[in-house]
Amino acid sequence: MFENLTYNQSTIHFGILGKSQFEEILTEDFADAKKVIITDENVYHLWIQDLTTNYPELANAEIIQIPAGEEYKSIDVCTQIWSALSEYQIGRNDLIINFGGGVITDIGGFVASCFKRGLKFINIPTTLLSMVDASVGGKTGVDLGPYKNQIGVFSDAEHVFIDDRYLETLPNDELKSGYAEMLKHGLIADKSYWNDLREFDPVNTENYLEFIYRSVLIKKRIVEKDSKESGLRKVLNFGHTIGHGLEGFCLKNDMPVLHGYAVASGMLAEAYISCEKALISKQEYDDIRSTLSQSFSPVHIADNDFKEVIKLMHNDKKNKGGVIQFSLINGIGKCLYDQEANDKLVLNALESII
Ligand SMILES: NC(=O)c1ccc[n+]([C@@H]2O[C@H](COP(=O)([O-])OP(=O)(O)OC[C@H]3O[C@@H](n4cnc5c(N)ncnc54)[C@H](O)[C@@H]3O)[C@@H](O)[C@H]2O)c1
Repeated sequence: MFENLTYNQSTIHFGILGKSQFEEILTEDFADAKKVIITDENVYHLWIQDLTTNYPELANAEIIQIPAGEEYKSIDVCTQIWSALSEYQIGRNDLIINFGGGVITDIGGFVASCFKRGLKFINIPTTLLSMVDASVGGKTGVDLGPYKNQIGVFSDAEHVFIDDRYLETLPNDELKSGYAEMLKHGLIADKSYWNDLREFDPVNTENYLEFIYRSVLIKKRIVEKDSKESGLRKVLNFGHTIGHGLEGFCLKNDMPVLHGYAVASGMLAEAYISCEKALISKQEYDDIRSTLSQSFSPVHIADNDFKEVIKLMHNDKKNKGGVIQFSLINGIGKCLYDQEANDKLVLNALESII
């Protein structure tokens, strides 16, 4: 049994959805609300029947299905969803249920938060990555071409229901993608979690929920201290400054890479910068490198594309005065934010991935 976690106005529930307070919340808090489920094509085919037939309150829910993939986390798709909400005459007291991976919780949370100045929403994450990271913490938004998460708002789900049954159908590379964000949580905040994760097999384990809980607890403790990312929360971006540059470059060139794989390469490169700045020892860097290399092949890009990746990074939200800002680890389980690195060092870091 895992206790509910709460931060701001949000409650995170763990365990089988049917045994959770989900039904009670639908019938008591949202009795008169129209319900809209936003999902993607894969989750729709695999799980929508399970959801809509087990809960009578969802039998008449409107279902909005979008194609799967990062390229659909766009403002154009938001416009289509908003038009559908208008057609269904959805109002302020109605409820959006985001049912899917991080793309769905990001876009669905954003759509809900902007429509008629804000509808309540519930997240039911179905990927490991969205369970450990994307569905909690209140960051919602979409990409602007190759620039990741450029348009968005902070807005918390009323509830997040994390049921690891959904992982039964998740492909192995998607499980590994979620594992990358879990490793990030260990690296930035909890050495013993990092050590346990080094023994954890993301594609074959009986106890996902225990590890998911530890990741969510780390994220919750950071987010409740700094929900709008004015300081401490930036540590959650470790691996993401370079990771988003790589992901955006691949997206732009029609060779999308899984978010977690881009973050794993980003963490490797940013650990290199941490080591070059003498924040971690060579031994710690080598340990991180060997752990990441065991599970993740590096994102494939050619040396002559690195400059383009750095150009994309210059649009990162955290930059100050034209200088790219990083969150860098200063030991395993510790992290500093607002750390500068010049383009030459970033270039060396990108070269170190290969
Ligand atoms: N808001 C945040 O704090 C935050 C944090 C981390 C990542 N993100 C965002 O999350 C996104 C990545 O999330 P993701 O990796 O979940 O991607 P995703 O939503 O694209 O899902 C990955 C794939 O898995 C499929 N899928 C989902 N659930 C499934 C299931 N149970 N069985 C089989 N297939 C299933 C999806 O259809 C998709 O093809 C990125 O856009 C990233 O920027 C957001």
